[in-house]
Amino acid sequence: MSKPITKICCIGAGYVGGPTMAVIAQKCPHIQVTVVDLNQARISAWNDPDTNNIPVYEPGLSEVVAEARGRNLFFSTEVDEAIAGAEMIFISVNTPTKTYGSGKGMAADLKYIELCARQIARVSKTDKIIVEKSTLPVRTAEAVKSILQNTGNGVQFQILSNPEFLAEGTAVEDLHAPDRILIGGDTTEEGQQAIAALVEVYANWVPTDRILTTNLWSSELSKLTANAFLAQRVSSINALSELCERTGADVSEVARSIGTDSRIGPKFLNASVGFGGSCFQKDILNLVYIARSYGLQQVADYWEQVIIMNDHQKRRFATNIVRTLYNTVSGKKIAFLGWAFKKDTNDTRESAAIYVADDLLNEQANITVYDPKVGEAQIQYDLNYLATRSAEQNKELVTVITDPYETCKDAHAIAIMTEWDEFKTYDWQRIYDNMIKPAFLFDGRNVVDKKKLTDIGFKVYTIGK
Ligand code: UDX
Ligand code: UDX
Ligand code: ADP
Repeated sequence: MSKPITKICCIGAGYVGGPTMAVIAQKCPHIQVTVVDLNQARISAWNDPDTNNIPVYEPGLSEVVAEARGRNLFFSTEVDEAIAGAEMIFISVNTPTKTYGSGKGMAADLKYIELCARQIARVSKTDKIIVEKSTLPVRTAEAVKSILQNTGNGVQFQILSNPEFLAEGTAVEDLHAPDRILIGGDTTEEGQQAIAALVEVYANWVPTDRILTTNLWSSELSKLTANAFLAQRVSSINALSELCERTGADVSEVARSIGTDSRIGPKFLNASVGFGGSCFQKDILNLVYIARSYGLQQVADYWEQVIIMNDHQKRRFATNIVRTLYNTVSGKKIAFLGWAFKKDTNDTRESAAIYVADDLLNEQANITVYDPKVGEAQIQYDLNYLATRSAEQNKELVTVITDPYETCKDAHAIAIMTEWDEFKTYDWQRIYDNMIKPAFLFDGRNVVDKKKLTDIGFKVYTIGK
């Protein structure tokens, strides 16, 4: 029997660590959960007396934090102290794609993971179970293990892989009722005991038949595979959307028709301007990099095509806007509705909006942006990060406005980049009346009622129809 866990520490208070730990604390009042981060501003925001100001926007999350915070959920920058006191440590730091050196643009940058491992090794005076929560390349656990065993203070470490499958925008829902919890660990007796300790944590609210246990490598690879399959579905339907546009078929009808085949299933078949988010591209690039490093060229090329298709989808959306606006958008105002990579999140990582905006800015467009949850600083940061032009130029060309009607006023075209529900219920007649004519609308998410808007007078372009 493994000893029950009473203290958990999570390193990394981001989109994964924050919500996951909040729900663990909510469901396990007998476990003290401390979430630590180097970023003081982020921790202060998690501790804001008004839980509506926490740094991650997720429906239902502020309520969960309000329930558990101060009771058995704590946010702190005292990383060493939290590590030292915990029996179980989750590593939930970011693992961006490398931007330098070997594997640049492809491999995951494990710098932050390694720093965490070294810190844990330095601080630990008692045995610990280390849980990988971040998405990591297969066999990262081995590297973490090697650091811990060679630089530690002679204490015992067990490494588990427990990938997170929550989707942003539905994180709380997904955490409350996950399709499955996956826990990978060593096949040794100690490894199995560590697995049992983590199973016991989740069993407080997840039915045990949904808690799958595997070896370490299977667990690590399953996470990359799940994201690769999901992204592949989006690229597949997006590939078909272009064909539909040329042939007069309707991609929504095609999606509905194939989705009723129980082997295919109806979910995740929405054609769009392209997938974004912190995981899909990064994980596939990672998979491709791993395959190439084993000399598996065909496997690598196969998965890389999912990314190539996605890049194409984003680019052709921008190209279509330019072409439709009489081959020039120079000096024209294009209004972006939505900037987040999907609805119900304030996360913008890899959002299609960033790349479409960049293409249009290269064509000298002026862009106004409205997103219900994303502010100016983030939008400018995203564009500056691409380093296509100077921050001053981005600031001059892109204006962020907090009112959607103002955003669309005097625009030549509207581009819907995120499927926020509120876009469906706008007073579209009012928007139309204030636009330059012909009033073009490019719906990158198929959210508006095309017939209704066409009747108002808009020239509506949708994906795959
Ligand atoms: C994804 C996985 O779903 C989740 O299991 C994993 O833990 C992290 O990565 P996330 O990136 O938060 O989650 O959101 P997801 O709902 O998967 O959407 C990813 C992107 O695909 C978004 O840009 C979304 O708009 C796009 N998408 C999704 C489509 O374009 N069409 C679809 O049918 C579904
Ligand atoms: C297929 C479609 O399933 C069917 O809907 C359509 O009407 C005709 O084409 P079929 O070719 O008869 O039917 O058999 P199917 O069960 O789809 O298998 C096709 C091939 O895929 C077989 O060689 C099968 O062995 C292989 N397969 C299928 C796998 O290798 N792995 C799987 O998981 C499923
Ligand atoms: P994810 O989507 O994976 O949660 P985020 O970027 O939202 O990614 O969150 C990761 C968090 O991890 C960031 O807030 C970052 O400051 C934090 N972090 C990275 N390295 C360390 C470290 N060594 N110690 C503590 N926190 C760290």
